[in-house]
Amino acid sequence: TSNAKQFDVVVIGAGPGGYIAAIRAAQLGFSVACVDEWANAQGGPAPGGTCTNVGCIPSKALLQSSEHFEHAGHGFAEHGIDVAGLTLNLGQMLKRKDGVVKQNNDGILYLFKKNKIAFFHGRGAFAGAAEGGYTIGVAGAKPDTLKAKHVVIATGSNARELAGAPFDEKLILSNAGALAIGAVPKRLGVIGAGVIGLEMGSVWRRLGAEVTVLEGLPVFLGAVDEQIAKEAHKLFVKQGLAIKLGCKIGAIKAGAADVTVDYVDADGAAQQAVFDKLIISIGRVPNTTGLGADTVGLKLDERGFVAVDDDCKTSLPNVWAVGDVVRGPMLAHKAEEEGVAVAERIAGQHGHTNFNTIPWVIYTSPEIAWVGQTEQQLKAAGVAYKAGTFPFLANGRARALGDTSGMVKFLADATSDEILGVHIVGPMASELISEAVVAMEFRASSEDIARICHAHPSLSEATKEAALAVDKRALNF
Ligand code: FAD
Ligand code: NAI
Repeated sequence: TSNAKQFDVVVIGAGPGGYIAAIRAAQLGFSVACVDEWANAQGGPAPGGTCTNVGCIPSKALLQSSEHFEHAGHGFAEHGIDVAGLTLNLGQMLKRKDGVVKQNNDGILYLFKKNKIAFFHGRGAFAGAAEGGYTIGVAGAKPDTLKAKHVVIATGSNARELAGAPFDEKLILSNAGALAIGAVPKRLGVIGAGVIGLEMGSVWRRLGAEVTVLEGLPVFLGAVDEQIAKEAHKLFVKQGLAIKLGCKIGAIKAGAADVTVDYVDADGAAQQAVFDKLIISIGRVPNTTGLGADTVGLKLDERGFVAVDDDCKTSLPNVWAVGDVVRGPMLAHKAEEEGVAVAERIAGQHGHTNFNTIPWVIYTSPEIAWVGQTEQQLKAAGVAYKAGTFPFLANGRARALGDTSGMVKFLADATSDEILGVHIVGPMASELISEAVVAMEFRASSEDIARICHAHPSLSEATKEAALAVDKRALNF
């Protein structure tokens, strides 16, 4: 390893956790390398991880396209816009999605160059611990050996398989296959009514599939505030998503051109469903495949995540881990925050990730977004709280948009009025939630939001009104 390339920081994985950690470390003056194995269709590098290649970005591209299609088919007529002879060009829709992904891949390669980060395309693995650092082997078209004082592991996650039903990406699809179905299936089955099930189920329903979602738990979106989840459930069912809760999945058999799923429904009755495609979205598992964790004695926890403390420190000195491969929500922005914090800690600074103010968004229509505690969590913890809600039905901008579904809900401490949670189901909830995140970071009270001037007409007035409603003084409802 005499010609090993020496770096202050080597980051393994160029998803949102890894590439952001690399950029922040470079900003702080370190020499940085980033290793990522993801390859595009031509075999070239495709940095950005799950998020860019088969996650956040392509799913949002297809959600946007499919929503346009749905509006052209139904919504436009109400505005006096008649679209005659509407047809779907799915090939173009998927091509556009691939183009959006490529723009993001290229953007990250550009950022690496701009920040003088050495990028290595291939699989990175610990080859050993050397004095003052670690040796990382890169296996790929151009094998390499790197030496690092600090290593940041950001190897992400993979879709969890259901026992007996491995992904073939033709009939039984993970998120990757779900984003690349070549023709709209007539009957689409989805196992798991979580974030991916609802987002991908929405895409294909809008494009014409008959979608059935089979969920194991008896409650819909158990982690979401109950009132919001109930409202969302009602809206999704109205849109035509068949959501079956409390299902116990049995045998799954892939035939020549369809998939048969045996399950026991919530009433205990044996059922059989036949689908043209089946998406399995039952959560994700941490990815430490081929990382060489054993070689250096890196500790994993009992669920296979890289074991870390609150500061993302692993069991090894100067080895850090961030994002989906460690505990905590599997969200791109959580991975990024941890990446920044770790780079700053390597520099001796005090990076920080506040787990209480990480926003969640489900990009269905309407969108669902929240931050902080749900009402059921506050009840369980015995916290005295006040609640205020405001429906988009009473918001002028929502009426002009033609999208009045849903509400904003505030939860505030009964005594101090500090905001404890904000929950939204409605148009542009993904953008509206930022105000609540900022407010909670500054430990604002609901009164603070209620007294801030919000532009009229805007959806954000519903946020202000919900804050007013905490004190029972909403003005427009
Ligand atoms: P990843 O993005 O998984 O990146 C890890 C990278 O490391 C990959 O490129 C992988 O190839 C590479 N790698 C792994 N091992 C090695 C190795 N040994 N050597 C070299 N390279 C390696 N989150 C949101 O916040 N918003 C969303 O809207 C959203 N939508 C999603 C939609 C879908 C369909 C899916 C599946 C996920 C979505 N997520 C979303 C979750 C988000 O994608 C993840 O939380 C995020 O990608 C995690 O980032 P990461 O950097 O930890 O890992
Ligand atoms: P998820 O955890 O959101 O949902 C999985 C669902 O499957 C749950 O409702 C669960 O009860 C159900 N389930 C689990 N095992 C089952 C079984 N055997 N039979 C029937 N149902 C079963 O996981 P999902 O949707 O796979 O997404 C993975 C992660 O990716 C999410 O948790 C999220 O962190 C991230 N993601 C984030 C998005 C966003 O931020 N908008 C979008 C998509 C994914």
